[in-house]
Amino acid sequence: MSDVMWTEKYRPKTLKEVVNLKKIITSLNAFLKSSATMPHLLFAGKAGTGKTSIALCIARQILGPNWRSYTLELNASDERGIRMVRERVKSFSRHSRGALGNIPYSIIILDECDQMTASAQTALRRIMETSSRVSRFILIANYSSKIIEPIQSRCAVFRFAAVRKEDMVKHLQIIAEKENLKVIGNTIETIVEFAEGDLRRAINILQTSVRYEKGMMVNEKTVLHVVGQVHPKQIQIMINKALNGKFIEAREILGELMASYGLSGVDIIRQIHRELYKISFLSSEEKAELANIVGEYDFRLTEGANEDIQLSALLAQFTKFTTSRVNS
Ligand SMILES: Nc1ncnc2c1ncn2[C@@H]1O[C@H](COP(=O)(O)OP(=O)(O)OP(=O)(O)O)[C@@H](O)[C@H]1O
Ligand SMILES: [Mg+2]
Repeated sequence: MSDVMWTEKYRPKTLKEVVNLKKIITSLNAFLKSSATMPHLLFAGKAGTGKTSIALCIARQILGPNWRSYTLELNASDERGIRMVRERVKSFSRHSRGALGNIPYSIIILDECDQMTASAQTALRRIMETSSRVSRFILIANYSSKIIEPIQSRCAVFRFAAVRKEDMVKHLQIIAEKENLKVIGNTIETIVEFAEGDLRRAINILQTSVRYEKGMMVNEKTVLHVVGQVHPKQIQIMINKALNGKFIEAREILGELMASYGLSGVDIIRQIHRELYKISFLSSEEKAELANIVGEYDFRLTEGANEDIQLSALLAQFTKFTTSRVNS
């Protein structure tokens, strides 16, 4: 099998190929009737739902075959972010109109805008104001609430919801067909269950599962292995250690899970959440309290906090939880 990532191979190239998001596509098409009417855009929402893909489709559609030369794709949380934006805008405004042919403006795609500090956002706002003749911004964030109001009010805001299950299943079936996969039973439905509305994750689970098998086939057992479902026991052991005051040992298991299984912080926290309810020696009040703690750390991770530190802190909270219970 070739090593191309299927998420890239099957990334939509035009708005027509985008799965779901009918309303968003319809209003975008209205904006795109002529390049002059396109406002700055702000895309907000869940991971793996098509935000970056759509931004690239728009750049392709407006700028034509040489779109890459006139598109700046940047991660806003990058320290050099604002400086690069400023330089790009400046160099683009130096071009004379004629030299650019039918390129109306450059497009600047700024990913992870919610990671920018308020002062960086203020600087960005000023650049957006002064450069609107020569550039359009497509800002991407998970949470629009973290974008300062003056920027929001300069953009047309689009909210991306989780991709619907039926649509995900259909999309994976199309990929499976194109890749000549033999899909056993309800494997695709199982993948979609675990992907939680994130189409990128669904495609990645499918591809990784195929890699585990001989021949081009996927079955449910491999999928469960790939999504880390063979490790609930280890998660249980880790939680038990923490709840029994053995913080350092719990942390060691955490380190192993992250390193050897390549699980992300969010994967681990989801599994902790799932396993929590199975612990028989906890009362339902205790489970509720612990679920509350898990919720807090899950949120911090989605906000982009450091995974290792946050998960250690979560285990520390578990340890503290029992200690305080024993002492009270
Ligand atoms: N609506 C969609 N239609 C078709 N493919 C999609 C869609 N959403 C996601 N994908 C698939 O998932 C991959 C990742 O999508 P994309 O990069 O657009 O997500 P994103 O919303 O920008 O996520 P993130 O917030 O993590 O950056 C794409 O390459 C594509 O294969
Ligand atoms: Mg993206």
